[in-house]
Amino acid sequence: MSTSSSSSFPRTIVSYTLTTSIFVVIFLFSVFLFTKHTLEHSLSPYHTDTIPLSVADPLPQILPVSSNETTQNPDDDVAIETNPKEEVVDSRVDDKTVEDSHTEKIKVEEEGGGGGGSRGEVSVSVESKEESNVESEVIEKMRGCDLYKGSWIKVKDDEYPLYQPGSCPYVDEAFDCQRNGRRDSDYLNWKWKPDGCDLPRFNATDFLVKLKGKSLMLVGDSMNRNQFESMLCVLRQGLSDKSRMYEVHGHNITKGRGYFVFKFEDYNCTVEFVRSHFLVREGVRANAQGNTNPTLSIDRIDKSHARWKRANILVFNTGHWWVHGKTARGKNYYKEGDYIYPKFDATEAYRRSLKTWAKWIDQNVNPKKQLVFYRGYSSAHFRGGEWDSGGSCNGEVEPVKKGSILDSYPLKMKIVEEAIKEMKLPVILLNVTKLTNFRKDGHPSIYGKTNTDGKKVSTRRQDCSHWCLPGVPDVWNHLIYASLLLQPHP
Ligand SMILES: *[C@@H]1O[C@H](CO)[C@@H](O)[C@H](O)[C@H]1NC(C)=O
Ligand SMILES: *[C@@H]1O[C@H](CO)[C@@H](O)[C@H](O)[C@H]1NC(C)=O
Ligand SMILES: *[C@@H]1O[C@H](CO)[C@@H](O)[C@H](O)[C@H]1NC(C)=O
Ligand SMILES: *[C@@H]1O[C@H](CO)[C@@H](O)[C@H](O)[C@H]1NC(C)=O
Ligand SMILES: *[C@@H]1O[C@H](CO)[C@@H](O)[C@H](O)[C@H]1NC(C)=O
Repeated sequence: MSTSSSSSFPRTIVSYTLTTSIFVVIFLFSVFLFTKHTLEHSLSPYHTDTIPLSVADPLPQILPVSSNETTQNPDDDVAIETNPKEEVVDSRVDDKTVEDSHTEKIKVEEEGGGGGGSRGEVSVSVESKEESNVESEVIEKMRGCDLYKGSWIKVKDDEYPLYQPGSCPYVDEAFDCQRNGRRDSDYLNWKWKPDGCDLPRFNATDFLVKLKGKSLMLVGDSMNRNQFESMLCVLRQGLSDKSRMYEVHGHNITKGRGYFVFKFEDYNCTVEFVRSHFLVREGVRANAQGNTNPTLSIDRIDKSHARWKRANILVFNTGHWWVHGKTARGKNYYKEGDYIYPKFDATEAYRRSLKTWAKWIDQNVNPKKQLVFYRGYSSAHFRGGEWDSGGSCNGEVEPVKKGSILDSYPLKMKIVEEAIKEMKLPVILLNVTKLTNFRKDGHPSIYGKTNTDGKKVSTRRQDCSHWCLPGVPDVWNHLIYASLLLQPHP
């Protein structure tokens, strides 16, 4: 009896404790799941801005270094942007350029007109048979293949880097990592490999042939300047006489200028960059104290649109300026018509601005003569902080191999896809976001500045947004080249 009671008592305890433990385990597990879910963002060392306003990853080096960075920088820079004096000089020069190139373009069209196709197409068909066979096989395989789903492979042959570090005069200091003292070089040898096909070998001469008589223009923020410099460098490799490309106004590339036109003499083509941080119009308003504050008209296209009109191939981007300062706070900044919103959500402003851009493209771009790319958001890799609060990426010498960062696809990109889907004109999305997720090793980090010898490199402010050149943007341009091979030419 005593045995049975003594044995039944513990049994109750046992089953009681078992139930409790199961309950406790389930409870703890759900707490874990919840915490993991909510904190994942802040815990992940390489998060991109899946939550659009939580990560500010703009362009450290275009912002003047100051002790009060977060609050002052954006405004300072906008002030530089809208400096009225510079604007006047700029637009006078540019109007002339617009006219010149316009007449030039018409001339080219007249020459080619009637004959059924431009010079570009004619010379493509003159290509040697063997090569075009190999090439056409690769191209056929690319059709229906998702070029942006794949992995990075390390190449042993001489294809990558597409030019030697330090060899291209158009890489500005901020991206010239090897010259600035970066020692590791593995990051130069990665090539993008789509899962279902191969990218055709990059052929700079062939790219130039395809651009013959045309203009290619990159429009966007400094991330697009990064890509623009890459474009100049990869195309330069196709010139036997490298002195036969030049900036038509004699300007050197500096971050202070917002407009460059490079002419490739032997191909009658230009490669241009137009700075437009938002693609919609920046302005200023006077406040009660008589100071001027920046505004952003989300229903009006950017002033530089007159230049966009004459380009044959356009590559747009925006994104990195939507996450910090005035833009993110949205106080007395966003404007529709004459109304300035006292407070407005930055994500909604971004959505409306892209619609404004999309509408402009639909109304102004001629699909028979022009081709439009939108280059997707480029991931940043700040560890342990943000761009302005000690975030870093130095010491990264290999791409990310696995982890949730690889699958992050920011809301900003969903908004881009949404805008493009509703357009009449077919826009080619250079869907590079995922491909950049891998490349935590590709940023300048502490090598965005020439290291004056002897001095210890400052690790305080790191550029984990832009890319070293040679580097990741070369691959974006390789993808443009691949896309052109698939296109009936504009
Ligand atoms: C930074 O700016 C804020 C607002 O403009 C100002 O209140 C603060 O004193 C400044 N801090 C420093 C360190 O300059
Ligand atoms: C590159 O393209 C040019 C022009 O289309 C062609 O003549 C040349 O053979 C190509 N080179 C290679 C290695 O395929
Ligand atoms: C451009 O840079 C080169 C080499 O650094 C220099 O010699 C030249 O004077 C610069 N040109 C202008 C217009 O600043
Ligand atoms: C390039 O343009 C110039 C005039 O702008 C013309 O004389 C020349 O024939 C053109 N060359 C080619 C290869 O189209
Ligand atoms: C772009 O790539 C992402 C994956 O990174 C994918 O989810 C998305 O569907 C792609 N968009 C298009 C239009 O192919």
